[in-house]
Amino acid sequence: MFGFDIGSNSGVIGTKQYRDYFNNPSDLLQGGINGALSAGCFVGALLAGFPADRYSRKYTLIGASVLFVIGSVFQAASNGVPLLCVGRVLNGLSVGVTSMVVPLYQSEIAPKEIRGRIVAVQQWSITWGIMISFWIQYGSQFTDSTAAFRIPWGIQAVPALILLSGMWAFPFSPRWLADKGRMDEAIQVLADIHGDGDIHHPRVQLEIQEIEAVIKFDREQASHRYADILKPQYAYRASLGICLQIWQQLTGMNIIMFYVVLLFEQAGVGDDQESTLVSSGVNYVVNVVMTVPAILWVDKWGRRNTMIFGALAMSLFLWVVGGLMSQGEWYLDDAGKWKVNIANEHAAKGMVACIYLFVASFATTWGPLGWIYPAEIFPLRIRAIAVSLSTSANWLFNWVLNFVVPLLMQRIRFGLYMLFAGFNFLMACHVFLAYPETKGFTLEEMDIVFEQNPRKKVDRAFVEAELARRAGLEHNRPASTEKNEDIV
Ligand code: BGC
Repeated sequence: MFGFDIGSNSGVIGTKQYRDYFNNPSDLLQGGINGALSAGCFVGALLAGFPADRYSRKYTLIGASVLFVIGSVFQAASNGVPLLCVGRVLNGLSVGVTSMVVPLYQSEIAPKEIRGRIVAVQQWSITWGIMISFWIQYGSQFTDSTAAFRIPWGIQAVPALILLSGMWAFPFSPRWLADKGRMDEAIQVLADIHGDGDIHHPRVQLEIQEIEAVIKFDREQASHRYADILKPQYAYRASLGICLQIWQQLTGMNIIMFYVVLLFEQAGVGDDQESTLVSSGVNYVVNVVMTVPAILWVDKWGRRNTMIFGALAMSLFLWVVGGLMSQGEWYLDDAGKWKVNIANEHAAKGMVACIYLFVASFATTWGPLGWIYPAEIFPLRIRAIAVSLSTSANWLFNWVLNFVVPLLMQRIRFGLYMLFAGFNFLMACHVFLAYPETKGFTLEEMDIVFEQNPRKKVDRAFVEAELARRAGLEHNRPASTEKNEDIV
């Protein structure tokens, strides 16, 4: 749903069928139509914390998928701009909600050893959605009717229908159940997913004790749950989650996802519209394929190294793209738009290669990590609200970039890539200085992890013993590291 949503317009708005039917929307109106979606996402992500806590993660996802089906029907049946916009806002609201609740739910049901992998699968689905929707639009443009846009907008409902019917078979989040005092059900869910159905499995017993103890501790400490986010230690952590999501947008990935066709046109990549589209479409394929290494290994690599390495690699590739473009010959075309003749064929190929390498670097690192990290760092009582804030920050910046990127492409031209290269460098420094490693710790252990020096490796045995001490439990944890290896 997320991917279809992001990709559902870029390939449609240039078609004659769309332009004729919607009376050639002006740039401003088109900006509004585009932005209706991410604005909806922003609001959806902001509001999702409340129903996720009150009515469960599971029912919130079911509700959001109903909204998405309705939105897609409105879009596919739209008879003008107003209905189209209503449909886009509804789809946006739904994706705002799901993009916040899915990683939250995943991290609450996942065994800690493969939590990163499970959330990375959500990112993989996003990349599949973007790619499929791009190629569906590419194919639909050859129909000589309004089907050119109705087909891609209607097909969006398919994943929502699958989620709507399939989600009923999923368990409630065990941490949500425990928080609601439904301990027996929570134990059963943990037993089903971590202990082959055996509620006496030592791992299940230990986990439930820890969850219970942390909830009790939380209740005694805090009467106003959401307001706790303002306490210094949580406000700081929330700022890390929010910055991470903002940085994920400032990697510049969406310059490529939304505007690669404009970029390749500007740089004269491909001899005609079709080959420009094909070269652009390759990016979406690279994005899907290169997310796979993250699914396989993000829980081995760890979060810090992956983010630092990814940001430095992206910075380098963007720097080269900007550099190669700066060497080209710039001129204004008939429509008054800046275009560039890249210096020579090698430079042009080098530029395209760097764009693909940039996309590959994002896909293996910040794509998944942008969702993994914020979903795993908060204590239960503020987790939903904190994830909701960080997710909405992502959508806010997504929305802003939507507007400013085409503008900057014309105003600062090659400087755009250098600006984003600079952002990538800064985010590598920020992660190095402030973000502790979180792989392999349980959600209940995060409070202790965040009390340590983020630049030092946190000792697992110390964290386990300290949690047991605080929770008043005996330190009888089964050898977790050996088990990690088994699972991974
Ligand atoms: C980002 C999106 C981006 C997508 C690309 C997601 O993680 O949040 O903004 O378009 O990755 O794969």
